[in-house]
Amino acid sequence: MLTTPAGLSRKEAEIYSHLDPARLPQHIAIIMDGNGRWARRRHMPRVAGHRAGVEAVRSTVETAARIGISALTLYAFSAENWKRRPETETGFLMALLRRYLKLEVPILNKNNIRLRYIGRAHELPQAVQERMEWAREATARNTGMTLTLALNYGARSEIIDAFESILKSAVNNGGLSHVKIDEETIGRHLYTRDLPDPDLVVRTSGEMRLSNFLLWQVAYAEIYVTETLWPDFRGHHLLEAIAEYQKRERRYGGLGAAHTHSHAHAHKK
Ligand code: FPP
Repeated sequence: MLTTPAGLSRKEAEIYSHLDPARLPQHIAIIMDGNGRWARRRHMPRVAGHRAGVEAVRSTVETAARIGISALTLYAFSAENWKRRPETETGFLMALLRRYLKLEVPILNKNNIRLRYIGRAHELPQAVQERMEWAREATARNTGMTLTLALNYGARSEIIDAFESILKSAVNNGGLSHVKIDEETIGRHLYTRDLPDPDLVVRTSGEMRLSNFLLWQVAYAEIYVTETLWPDFRGHHLLEAIAEYQKRERRYGGLGAAHTHSHAHAHKK
């Protein structure tokens, strides 16, 4: 008999029971959007939406870990967004992040989750960087899911940094004539070098955009967009996204089983 992972709510267990545990996405990446709209609908300040968003992060992270997802990456602050928001809001987000990291470490440890980051962290306030480093170190020995927070992240900046890193290592290793640029080399110099490419990208609050998130890595990912606003998102929404993912046929640029079959059939006629 199939066993349900411990700790799932009744609703989560019901959705999970229809999933194929052998075909779970290994790496899920989420664009968390809609905090502002969530707050506006309630006539609350935008920051109230961010505060409510933390509960969504907690629920999603715990459910992903419980069902055995090996990597979860959350787009928390984009490098671009950063520049467009009022200072009071970014200040609030920084304070929220510091508090989140402090409160969350025991929960991450309880769930055997290792915390990592992608993005240009060195541009964040010093106090935030120190807290980030503390949380990373405090969870570094966990062996379960890798939770990656994208902070001051932009995919084009990541690709630029990768090229700079390739050049630098070439200079240190015998010069430019030794550089070989292929997919594997680029992958090894991206921030995500230790992660598999995402199989599934989830975006909340309805927008059909990638917004400069993991552009290289999502080449073959399935994209799932839900109208649910981020602060309303919970573990069962993640399971619904996985259910939809499992309904799709992944072809990696090939023709796929169904197509090959009908093609062969057409030839016979
Ligand atoms: C998008 O909503 C959300 C953000 C830019 C911030 C994400 C932050 C959180 C979910 C909370 C803190 C996270 C961590 C990891 C502690 P938006 O403001 O762009 O919403 P809108 O498009 O409706 O205005």
